[in-house]
Amino acid sequence: MPLGPALSIYDPVFIGIDEFGHRVTVPLIYRNMLIGGEPGAGKSALLNLLVAHAALSLDARLCLLDGKRVELGQWRRCADVFVGPDQGHAIRTLQRLQTMMDNRYAFLEWFGHRKVAPDHEFSPVVVAVDEIAYFSATAGDKKTQEQFSALLRDLVARGRAVGIIVIAATQRPSSDIIPTSLRDLFAWRFAGRCTTDVSSDIVLGHGWANRGWSANTISPNNQGAGLLIAEGGMPQLVKTAYLADADCARIAAYAATLRTAATRTRRTTRPADPSGPVADLPAAA
Ligand SMILES: Nc1ncnc2c1ncn2[C@@H]1O[C@H](COP(=O)(O)OP(=O)(O)O)[C@@H](O)[C@H]1O
Ligand SMILES: [Mg+2]
Repeated sequence: MPLGPALSIYDPVFIGIDEFGHRVTVPLIYRNMLIGGEPGAGKSALLNLLVAHAALSLDARLCLLDGKRVELGQWRRCADVFVGPDQGHAIRTLQRLQTMMDNRYAFLEWFGHRKVAPDHEFSPVVVAVDEIAYFSATAGDKKTQEQFSALLRDLVARGRAVGIIVIAATQRPSSDIIPTSLRDLFAWRFAGRCTTDVSSDIVLGHGWANRGWSANTISPNNQGAGLLIAEGGMPQLVKTAYLADADCARIAAYAATLRTAATRTRRTTRPADPSGPVADLPAAA
């Protein structure tokens, strides 16, 4: 297969068009994204779009958590880890990422850097979680659910500077799933159609519905439309681009081939990412 150019995770990610038909891109590096909305709002579709960009970015690594398995399943071959409906596996993976984050901070401190840069040896890691609620409110018991939430919060809060990019989707944007303090840590927030103004405010931030910005006004037939807000900015109406299953399959196969080729080349030109693999750790005895 002839190999074409790849993308970079340091590039802005194309996500769709605005009301005027202009392209909308979101820089993801040093940022996190929260995607909320009712079932069928287009959350998983947007997640797939972002993961597609990350998969084609040979400078990024992927960590996928998907309780339903099929939403992100096509990217499995491009990912360091794929977590299905297994809360223990999810917790071990987040613990591994937490250790990686601490090690990377030690490295940055030693070299006097404040954040990772494209010329650093370790690659940004995109952690995509579809349906946070499965791991934080459905599976396991209260203790493990809280453990999952605390780990995720730590990654969202501290991971940005070391290139850990958390993208999380949830269909129940209620405050028990996403406490306000956690929501405010997400630099990008996308609210697909929500059933109430309150749910919309939970994703976008308090008070936006009163000011005329509610994802409740989006038609249930307009899947993929939603309000996008950046830290400190105004909401913006966006219609996300859509990748059909066949598109995802093609992109995933191509990305997997590029990644294999890149790993082979890298092995001969520069050392591997010193962070080591985000592989599954054996279960604690
Ligand atoms: N941007 C989009 N453009 C057109 N159709 C979309 C778009 N996003 C989602 N859809 C349609 O909506 C359906 C449900 O989307 P999905 O992402 O699975 O919703 P959710 O994860 O929010 O439950 C998809 O199967 C697709 O047919
Ligand atoms: Mg979904």
